[in-house]
Amino acid sequence: MNVPISARASERPHSPGSRSAFGEGRATAKVILFGEHAVVYGAPALAAPVSSLVTRARVAFGDDAPRIRSAAYSGALDRAPERVSPTVTALLATLERLEHPSAGVRLEIESDIPVARGLGSSAAVASAIVDATAAALGASLTEADRHELVQTAERAAHGSPSGLDARAVRADGPVWFRAGEAVPVPVGAPLHLVIADTGVRGRTRLAVEEVAARRAVDPDGVDAAIARLGTLTFDARAAVAGGDISAVGRGMDEAQRILTGLGVGHPALDHLAVTARGAGALGAKLTGGGQGGCLIALGSGAEQALVLADALRASGAAATWITTVEATT
Ligand code: MEV
Repeated sequence: MNVPISARASERPHSPGSRSAFGEGRATAKVILFGEHAVVYGAPALAAPVSSLVTRARVAFGDDAPRIRSAAYSGALDRAPERVSPTVTALLATLERLEHPSAGVRLEIESDIPVARGLGSSAAVASAIVDATAAALGASLTEADRHELVQTAERAAHGSPSGLDARAVRADGPVWFRAGEAVPVPVGAPLHLVIADTGVRGRTRLAVEEVAARRAVDPDGVDAAIARLGTLTFDARAAVAGGDISAVGRGMDEAQRILTGLGVGHPALDHLAVTARGAGALGAKLTGGGQGGCLIALGSGAEQALVLADALRASGAAATWITTVEATT
């Protein structure tokens, strides 16, 4: 199900007085299976790319003033509103890193990934831009350079991101993330996940701040919750590797309870979680920053995931997507 990230440069026929090279980049959405928020405090996380939700960026250089075309904003680069500052940051930081002026740059973005739903839209957009810009200039960047550039844009989006999203949207399969690095994880049996959009904008920055504020008041309580989320993530890695999907589901339910206790839940998430369990999900939890955004529910099989998706939409989900984390063994 998972598609490798690609970046490529192309040449159009030259026309007098204009440059013709363009570059393209793409990245996918991601789901965090376990470890959101705890990862900010050094705990591990398990995440997977969502290959059916893709962001594509195209960068070219011409003679016109620098400009952007995207669903969020289309117009002059220097008039871009604050809400697209992560996009502008990704582009300008990459150009600066490659020591190339912004004169004549043209950026186009197309994305299937819903914004502010915990699915990694900002990291995917940044990642696609970094790749497209490097490809347009025929420049080589190391994976470490690319990650750091995505992180630069993510800081503009979320404050101090752990780096999990930046890694997961560039992954070609599920990853174990810890201390800034991501490694592939073995999967013993497929995980049939339904992603259900509450329709409520998630607020990652505010959600992260909420946990920090609670920790300032109750350090022992919040640290115990973070430690338990970390243990659940280790246990989930073993369950995923061993193909014990019932254990994965039980871990998701407990993680959801803990995350809600940390103040990053939402009534719309609770409502969809109850629906998912009632429709036979093995487990259900928020994914990403929370306080809205998306729920993930684990089906017992491919057919049952379809039933879950129907039940979640009938219960008010604004949209659902099914993504399968395929077995690796
Ligand atoms: C956001 O997708 C995940 C969080 O853990 C924040 C982060 O890792 O930077 C909430």
